[in-house]
Amino acid sequence: MKNLMVTGGAGFIGANFVHHMLGKYDGYRVVVFDKLTYAGNLDNLLPVKDDPRYAFIQGDICDAEAVDAAIEAHDIDTIVNFAAETHVDRSILDPDAFVQTSVYGTYVLLEAAKKHGLERYHQISTDEVYGDIPEGYSSVESDALRPRSPYAASKASADLMVQAYHITYGLPITITRGSNNIGPYQYPEKVVPLFTTNAMDDKPLPLYGDGRQKREYQYVGDHCSAIDLVLHKGVIGDVYNIGTGVEVENIDMVKILLDTVDKPHDLIRHVTDRAGHDRRYSLNIGKILALGWEPDHTPEEAIAKSVAWYRDNEWWWRKVRNEDFESYYQVQYGKRLAS
Ligand code: NAD
Ligand code: DAU
Repeated sequence: MKNLMVTGGAGFIGANFVHHMLGKYDGYRVVVFDKLTYAGNLDNLLPVKDDPRYAFIQGDICDAEAVDAAIEAHDIDTIVNFAAETHVDRSILDPDAFVQTSVYGTYVLLEAAKKHGLERYHQISTDEVYGDIPEGYSSVESDALRPRSPYAASKASADLMVQAYHITYGLPITITRGSNNIGPYQYPEKVVPLFTTNAMDDKPLPLYGDGRQKREYQYVGDHCSAIDLVLHKGVIGDVYNIGTGVEVENIDMVKILLDTVDKPHDLIRHVTDRAGHDRRYSLNIGKILALGWEPDHTPEEAIAKSVAWYRDNEWWWRKVRNEDFESYYQVQYGKRLAS
């Protein structure tokens, strides 16, 4: 592995992964290939913009010619695919782009990896592919996939296609299924940056339903170090869960968040729930722990550290909470907050 193409590298986790890899290793070159949708943001890559080991290409993973050209121009040997539409609520409003990018786009990347004989294709997947998990159980990598939202179904489809390319064509793939990431550069449609930035402006925090849903909130840097480990030590063809093993109820996450920015708990508003809202995700992380990984943050530390980043980086999120964002906010929350 020498020349990595990080698709979706201008988004939240992709950008953190670029910083992780260029910060830790001298010998790799990283090409970010990103369409720059509403969620892509070159500000996320500002710290590496003048690094000679980094290059940026604006392109769509559904565009086979552009993908081929990027691989050839930069002598790419490894693809790490973060590119996706990623917000569950938007997938409920309009699933089209989710299917395009995760299903067709992943197929295009797999074809390119096969054609160019790449050393590795790594797919970034999610714990949401396992669906809603009953109390007392944690998902293992061999479990059947039971996605329940259009977003999760698009990710599960991609996941299965990646595995099919390994089985059918011997493509050297690995897959990681991460839990709910938080940290710097997350688009403020997601709950932690949305609630932090609302709280800073004394706006209400629209908590879905009773707020007792459980998520494994993990610090994005921990997720990136696990992906790095799988790229270096993972078994070809294998899948690895990456989570914390610790569930946090949304209502408890929100209380830590409000305490961190020193705002009152009465900013919380219980609003109409998300359609088909998965109540609980829980990952068995024995396999990634056995590979030698351990997270550096507890979920409480991850929440407080992420919230503090938004508190301290208004320059970043005030630009992102622009007119387009506010239009989306009205569609998603206008009626919910009015009733
Ligand atoms: P994000 O929405 O912040 O970023 C997605 C990036 O992909 C953006 O830069 C966007 O411009 C780019 N993109 C979208 N469609 C594209 C296309 N057709 N061609 C090229 N680029 C395109 O997403 P994120 O939260 O950083 O998630 C990254 C990956 O990790 C996704 O695959 C997601 O499913 C997965 N994941 C996310 C989480 C999480 O908690 N955020 C957890 C587990 C897995
Ligand atoms: O679990 C991994 C997944 O985590 C990733 O695959 C997704 O890409 C990522 O978006 C995230 O999905 P979630 O649906 O868990 O994240 P979100 O931040 O949208 O919501 C987290 C929890 O907070 C969820 O239970 C819904 C709740 N929530 C969310 C929003 C946006 C609210 O109560 N109110 C809100 O306004």
